[in-house]
Amino acid sequence: MKILHISAECYPIAKVGGLADVVGALPKYQNSKKDVSQVIMPFYDNKFTKEHTFSEEFKSTLKLGEIEIDFRILSLNNNVLGFDLFLVDIPELLFKDYVYSNDDTERFLAFQIATLNWVLTWEKKPNVIQCHDHHTGLTPFMIQESLKYAKLNKIPTIFTIHNAQYQGWFSHERVGLIPEFDFSKVGLIDWGGSINPMAAAIKCAWRVNTVSPSYMEELKKSANGLEWLLNEESAKCVGILNGIDTDVWNPEKDTYLIKNYSIKTVQAGRNVQKKWLCDEFNLDIEKPLFAFIGRLVGEKGSDLFPEVFRNALINKDISILLLGSGNKEVEEQLEKLKEDHVGNYNAYIGYDEKLSHLIYAGADFLLMPSRVEPCGLNQMYALRYGTIPIVRSIGGLKDTVIDIEEENGFGICHENVTVSEIIHAISRGLDLFQNQTKFKKIREQIMNIDHSWDASAKEYINLYKSLKG
Ligand code: ADP
Ligand code: GLC
Repeated sequence: MKILHISAECYPIAKVGGLADVVGALPKYQNSKKDVSQVIMPFYDNKFTKEHTFSEEFKSTLKLGEIEIDFRILSLNNNVLGFDLFLVDIPELLFKDYVYSNDDTERFLAFQIATLNWVLTWEKKPNVIQCHDHHTGLTPFMIQESLKYAKLNKIPTIFTIHNAQYQGWFSHERVGLIPEFDFSKVGLIDWGGSINPMAAAIKCAWRVNTVSPSYMEELKKSANGLEWLLNEESAKCVGILNGIDTDVWNPEKDTYLIKNYSIKTVQAGRNVQKKWLCDEFNLDIEKPLFAFIGRLVGEKGSDLFPEVFRNALINKDISILLLGSGNKEVEEQLEKLKEDHVGNYNAYIGYDEKLSHLIYAGADFLLMPSRVEPCGLNQMYALRYGTIPIVRSIGGLKDTVIDIEEENGFGICHENVTVSEIIHAISRGLDLFQNQTKFKKIREQIMNIDHSWDASAKEYINLYKSLKG
């Protein structure tokens, strides 16, 4: 079977968050003697595209409203990704040094139209098209309703919701950007008076999935306005837990690490990384190191960090290290906090892939007090590297972390996102660290947990097989 993934992000080409990690791994695990899984994404102006060469596969023109735009489909030369990669080159819209901006409606519509124009020319059409998040949410509608794509309307479509907070809304005044369709069907793209690509995808895709089972259930109660729709469409909705790419995220082989390690050498290996982090960020290696890696946005609970950290650091018996960027006010407060807690706290405001790997391999605990977490990959990376996750039990975090007080538990969980509950969770971490026998036992236990994509990739293949085009 031939599967085509359409996505705005794909690791290592362009990454903003976990979407890239998923699209850069899942196809690799789906490829087999029987199945071919491919990815198409925009051609951005970034480090990866500068350092690699590409061949032209196809060249044509697309119509975005009244405007005609030239585009090319490129493929990656000397591809070692483990799946075929195609890129849509539209210089004036997509070839930018960023992934998202405020003209995304035009940019991602043009991307989807170019993709479908190209697929129309394929002799052997894909057996399934999987669209990821709202940037590709109008594809199922266009396949089903746009006159131009009538030849594709037997191809089953899957829509994967990585994050339902962002839905890609735009006004009906711009409906002319979408290739011509029978206007009596305009209700399919509407939700609450705007064009809503995520709602359109939930209505038109053959199947809809979230990236964890719990998130699917939570969305039926709270989905930024889409609850009713998800309940209505629940028969075609399912939650499939993400996996992790165990080639990239493997402490035994990770090329970003200073010293690789296995379960047998975990203590020595992790000490090297922790020492490097403590030297680099002026922290005390003897104290338990609590870290956070991620986007500084409300969903991750990051607005509470300044107060949480200030309180948690009062007794000076722990260290905290943060890697992230996002909300400017939070960034400033986190920067300022450094002055008062020299030696116990530090933060790198920005994005740094290498540093993230070193933190997973050197911190003792990883904090994830998320308000919303569709899946969360960080906790799975932490587990694999032997860092104990401290999480709020929600979405994918609820599906992957069991509290130490429960049978076979290995993490620290809290129910609510409040300053006091996060501080309490950190103090439970400190207690655990002081019991080194238990701490080390749990560390070995978590490194053995298998979150590789094998099982979930098969679940997707079974889902595709249940659809007959
Ligand atoms: P989300 O997609 O909501 O941001 P995930 O947990 O699914 O959350 O994935 C986040 C991914 O982005 C992980 O690979 C994490 O290591 C990475 N990441 C997030 N922020 C940073 C940062 N500032 N520097 C390096 N990597 C980061
Ligand atoms: C989104 C979610 C995150 C998930 C990722 C990959 O960005 O916020 O929880 O892990 O997508 O599916």
